[in-house]
Amino acid sequence: MFKEEEINDRLSIFRNDKIHFINSFEEDVKTGLTSEKKYLLPKYFYDEKGSELFEKICKTKEYYPTRSETEILDILSDTISERNIDKNMIIELGSGTSVKTELLIRSFLKEREELVYIPLDVSNIIIESSRQLTENYSNLIINGVISFYEEGMEFIVSRFNSPKIILFLGSSIGNFTPGESIEFMRMLAKYMNETDRLLIGFDLVKERKILEDAYNDSDGITAEFNLNILSRINRELNADFKIENFKHKSVFNEEDSRIEMYLESLSDMNVDLKSIDEKIKLKKGELIHTENSYKFNKKMINELAERSGLVFSDYYTDEKEYFSLCAFRLNRNF
Ligand code: AVJ
Repeated sequence: MFKEEEINDRLSIFRNDKIHFINSFEEDVKTGLTSEKKYLLPKYFYDEKGSELFEKICKTKEYYPTRSETEILDILSDTISERNIDKNMIIELGSGTSVKTELLIRSFLKEREELVYIPLDVSNIIIESSRQLTENYSNLIINGVISFYEEGMEFIVSRFNSPKIILFLGSSIGNFTPGESIEFMRMLAKYMNETDRLLIGFDLVKERKILEDAYNDSDGITAEFNLNILSRINRELNADFKIENFKHKSVFNEEDSRIEMYLESLSDMNVDLKSIDEKIKLKKGELIHTENSYKFNKKMINELAERSGLVFSDYYTDEKEYFSLCAFRLNRNF
């Protein structure tokens, strides 16, 4: 099921060939746009243009999460390395371009002769970033895995068995509902041994204005990112959304502790999705829900851990306490 490609003597890519047969974009769009309350799944933001726009969001002055998490890693990577001196393997889920992880890799390599880094992502993007990393660090070994998370984790632990750290950075967990987060953390706990650690980045609850500005930057990059999902549907499903008839909207829902992003229709309209043979209607003011981004506090994080069979082992945060990097270990009494 996993085919190995040797890129160079310290870099191999293991590809799950099953991944190509699953094409759910059409079905997910159809389900989302024909449901009572229209929605689209945030994972579909990331086509080529969307990934580029996300990189640009991270550089806007309002979007603090990337900077806050980078600050934590900048200051605390050495500490994290020392506290985990027994581990010489880092698995990273959804690693993308590995920019922040490089800070951790650099610290780990200072105190170890060798480190095995295993980026796990559904996208080919890990090949180029891994190649670059092996060129920059001569004692780094990379085994990249291109797969969905669960199958990928199962493969990794069956093939590479060392004390490890599992990373899930960038507050990607914020896209999951609390139930999905627990399911995800339980899944990871299944693949952990007593000494292993799971490190997850959580964006923290803070003043409404700061949260809302981060999802509505003044250069309009987030708006462009949100609207781009309609261009993707137009292109890939031969649809005729008039993009200029939609407005980007984001609000902090305090009760559910999450930023909600929407595309608001500015007029009554009919949209034809030709490839899937579907016609939809939108009323003026109607919303398409495109993303939730949960914001956490320590109590909420503790509850997620508790219900996943994990306990806190460390809690790292930045100066302003905007973001936190949490380390968990298995709860022996679970
Ligand atoms: C990549 C899911 C962490 O929720 O902050 C950024 C995505 N959406 N601006 C987030 C996003 C709008 C981001 N995550």
